[in-house]
Amino acid sequence: MQLSKRVQQVAPSVTLTITAMARALKDGGKDVVGLGAGEPDFNTPQHIIEAAIQAMNAGHTKYTPASGIASLKEAIIRKFHRDNRLQYTANQVMVTVGAKHALYNLFQALLDPGDEVIIPTPYWVSYVEQVKLAGGVPVLLEGKEEDGFKISTSDLAAAVTERTKAFLINSPSNPTGAVYTKEELTDLGRVCIDQNVTIISDEIYEHLIYSGQPHISMASLGEEYYNQTVIINGVSKTYSMTGWRIGYVAGNADLIQAMSNISSHSTSNPASIAQYAAIAALEGPQEPVATMRTAFAQRRDFLVAALQQLPGISASTPAGAFYVYANIAESMKAKSIKTSAEWAQKLLEEELVAVVPGSAFGTDEHVRLSYATSMEQLEKAVERIKRFVDIQ
Ligand SMILES: Cc1ncc(COP(=O)(O)O)c(C=O)c1O
Repeated sequence: MQLSKRVQQVAPSVTLTITAMARALKDGGKDVVGLGAGEPDFNTPQHIIEAAIQAMNAGHTKYTPASGIASLKEAIIRKFHRDNRLQYTANQVMVTVGAKHALYNLFQALLDPGDEVIIPTPYWVSYVEQVKLAGGVPVLLEGKEEDGFKISTSDLAAAVTERTKAFLINSPSNPTGAVYTKEELTDLGRVCIDQNVTIISDEIYEHLIYSGQPHISMASLGEEYYNQTVIINGVSKTYSMTGWRIGYVAGNADLIQAMSNISSHSTSNPASIAQYAAIAALEGPQEPVATMRTAFAQRRDFLVAALQQLPGISASTPAGAFYVYANIAESMKAKSIKTSAEWAQKLLEEELVAVVPGSAFGTDEHVRLSYATSMEQLEKAVERIKRFVDIQ
């Protein structure tokens, strides 16, 4: 079978090998501790599940407009106003099959062959591959560990070329948990405005910040920022709804129309039932979000403190999301291991703990550990990682 050149450029997910291995071990009856998954361990709050049942009973089981039902768009518009002080109209908003689909459609709608997208490293795995699938060129910009994995304004300005079409910012970040301040966002956004570079702001972890620092939406920084920015968001992380597949995007009306046209020929609408559930998520009680956030904060503090005690591992406290991006360079050296993938694979084989190697996120001296799992599992994981890194 001769596959397209386009698809041959796409790298298989580095995480797949580990995930497949972890699954095989689990299926074989092994007690694997999974710190790989990017999803909360909590079930979706009950009132959201009830809303989905009600929607089915009410017959909302048919096609909807490709860009989503009007009542969900209204709920999204109210959410932007409530949480981010942003004003959008229905033609500036679109519902998608998860935030991942919003990003995919966005790159398809925005990029011509050779157009560059500046992506800070470490980055979320799919950005780079999605840009390539759209014919674009990912331009990686290093967020240095000593700067909390954040990029600087001068580095961004230096990376912009005539071909730069977009700059992607993800705050709070997956995998590092870094949260940019208002001043930092103002300066980064200014570079993009001055050079007419579209800002893609992935704000999917906006409600998962533990440092007391506020989440600032890039689009909220003034009219120029609002006009230049496309916001990506969704209900997956905030409401523990990863399986429901509802994301959303807000920005320029022509762009949203183009993205909606793409959806109308590919996925059609996101699941009708999940759309009704998402209304309940956005408009219903927000206490479950606070409960999850409190639990994540406790787990984060436990995991970081425990990792800091381990030889060969260093980890700083992430401000948001639900991952610790730990530096394993010393441990790799001590164990004569060459790559983060090999380190992760050995940890899984020898101690049955699944983590994601940093190579999936563009750095090869780290691993990502998700703390979206129970304290019990985290305690078990730490004990095992300790055995793994201890060199007698
Ligand atoms: C930074 C970031 N953006 C987007 C997504 C996609 O989320 P979903 O497609 O589940 O809405 C994820 C999920 O892991 C993510 O971590």
